[in-house]
Amino acid sequence: MSTPTPHPLVHAVNVTKSFGHVEVLKGIDLDVHAGEVVCLLGPSGSGKTTFLRCINSLERIDGGRIWVDGDLVGLREVDGRLHRLTDRQIAAQRRDIGMVFQRFNLFPHMTALENVIEAPIRVRGESRADATRRATELLDRVGLADRRQNYPAQLSGGQQQRVAIARALAMRPKLMLFDEPTSALDPELVGEVLAVMRELAADGTTMIVVTHEVAFAREVADQVVFMDGGVVVEAGPPAEVIGNPRHERTRSFLARMRAGAEHG
Ligand SMILES: Nc1ncnc2c1ncn2[C@@H]1O[C@H](COP(=O)(O)OP(=O)(O)OP(=O)(O)O)[C@@H](O)[C@H]1O
Ligand SMILES: [Mg+2]
Repeated sequence: MSTPTPHPLVHAVNVTKSFGHVEVLKGIDLDVHAGEVVCLLGPSGSGKTTFLRCINSLERIDGGRIWVDGDLVGLREVDGRLHRLTDRQIAAQRRDIGMVFQRFNLFPHMTALENVIEAPIRVRGESRADATRRATELLDRVGLADRRQNYPAQLSGGQQQRVAIARALAMRPKLMLFDEPTSALDPELVGEVLAVMRELAADGTTMIVVTHEVAFAREVADQVVFMDGGVVVEAGPPAEVIGNPRHERTRSFLARMRAGAEHG
């Protein structure tokens, strides 16, 4: 692993999380530095989504700590004691983190443009004119300049996912989380979404991406993290984790992915 700089944007230490009696995160450590792209790989059920949801306070962790940009997620420390943040404070933290899901979750009754300006106006208090100007730029950036007035039902899956990315960026997040953003798409639409993500990465967006697109991870990630069974099995540069994995579990997962890519 590369030497960590003193202030990673995301600093997760020994994060544990159980659902009932089942421990699904068993002590996850992760550092993500500003401008880095981290790809999280791992088999189904390994805890990838749960971990992303913990970073974004959609789940409450049972043990360990997560800091985003120096702030403890979900907690604050007063006189050496930890207190849970109020729902309002948690909502304020979550505003700085953009999340893009497998399913696009656009508002069906709003056009692409309306989807993108909604939160900046309602949550950030931006004027409609400012929000519209910025949304127009963002839709342009994701290649949808001519689709602003379309409703989600009038857009392909790949176009909807690109609107979802523009919508997340409109909140000017410090960090973008992607949870298998291309896995619900028809194969011919995957490339256009990955192209947008590749550009975001090149522009210095800090991103954590759960993906099964091994070629994308190899090309774009600064760091690849392979999870299995609620632990990080190995982490490091893609040339190591994907190109020359040290662990049998990583090797067999990658072999299965390759077989899937060839036959699927
Ligand atoms: N809300 C929940 N209640 C109970 N169990 C849950 C809940 N959410 C996730 N789990 C369990 O936690 C484990 C990890 O799930 P998670 O969704 O994080 O895995 P994943 O790595 O994202 O898998 P996939 O690749 O299929 O998306 C699974 O066994 C899952 O069934
Ligand atoms: Mg998942």
